[in-house]
Amino acid sequence: MNYIGSKFSILNYIDEVIEDFIPKKNNITLCDIFAGTGVVSKYFKAKGYNIISNDIEYFSYVILEGLVKNSDELKFEKLASKGIDPFIYLNNLRGRKGFIYKNYSLGGTKGKEYKRQYFSDYNAKKIDACRMKIEYWKKKKLISDNEYYYLLACLIEASDKVANTASVYEAFLKDLKESAKKNIEIKRLDLVYNDKKYEIYNKDSKELIREIKGDILYLDPPYNSRRYDTNYHILETIALYDNPKITGKTGIRVDSSKKSNYCIKNKAKDELEDLIKNANFKYILLSYNDEGIISTKDIEEIMKKYGNYKKYEKKHKRFKADNKREYKKDYTIEYIHCLEKK
Ligand SMILES: C[S@@+](CC[C@H](N)C(=O)[O-])C[C@H]1O[C@@H](n2cnc3c(N)ncnc32)[C@H](O)[C@@H]1O
Repeated sequence: MNYIGSKFSILNYIDEVIEDFIPKKNNITLCDIFAGTGVVSKYFKAKGYNIISNDIEYFSYVILEGLVKNSDELKFEKLASKGIDPFIYLNNLRGRKGFIYKNYSLGGTKGKEYKRQYFSDYNAKKIDACRMKIEYWKKKKLISDNEYYYLLACLIEASDKVANTASVYEAFLKDLKESAKKNIEIKRLDLVYNDKKYEIYNKDSKELIREIKGDILYLDPPYNSRRYDTNYHILETIALYDNPKITGKTGIRVDSSKKSNYCIKNKAKDELEDLIKNANFKYILLSYNDEGIISTKDIEEIMKKYGNYKKYEKKHKRFKADNKREYKKDYTIEYIHCLEKK
């Protein structure tokens, strides 16, 4: 998924920093408290760490439950006993005119105040049909919770692939782009199988930090005013499927009230300090770039108060959600601020 602030392209760099800064130890627990797409959690899961993974957005939580926590093969035994392979079944399901079709496709919004084309009519109907079927299977106890989140995660990823956007959901494109014209395909996503421990949460980091402990705390908070709840509102609605009140041309959820304190200039610094102060982790790593709301100097000052501090830096290609926007430079400096807590 093309996610704002995704660390997909710098996973090796994070790993190198950990290798350099933290003494080797067995059975390490790493917490990815702003996990987003879960790429960092998945990477360190594959390296054999125990993982605590969290995000305030529900769609992210679904992805983490589905693709990080699941570490045994999913057999879908109850469906299999009825001769159903969930992926073949979902991919062949007939579309239904549900919430996504009625609000986010051209056919469904025809004659309404706002015409929207986030998905082709075909794909919007398929997303609705699959979403309803997965919920039905869960209600009828034909799938376990693990299987439920896995199927939902696969549906969210598949939906994002055919979305008619420049990458985020704050706007849709006028004409269907090539990838949005393709029929949605719900793919079986890869899982890592092992016997490590996983804890998944859907909480505000400020609350969660007081409840957990481990070895390494990896922090990747939002670093500017761009909100994840509004930028990914349709994924949230597919995950929750809660028939929300929506508004305006983009059809965002009216209840998008989760503006993170990390996106607010006069709150971000105190929020970060609160997290570091209350963290029950020996090592804390913070990914933050040189254009973030909190200055590099402020981060250094905060971290030095709590123990031994070191900073790593690397040039990183800029995330461009909006191709029309002009940027001063096409890279940012991606810092990893490291603290060994005293
Ligand atoms: C920079 S992104 C993380 C990207 C992630 N590392 C990845 O590679 O996909 C920041 C994430 O923090 C989440 N977030 C924002 N405020 C939060 C809070 N107070 N508590 C927990 N998560 C929060 C957002 O929903 C978003 O997914």
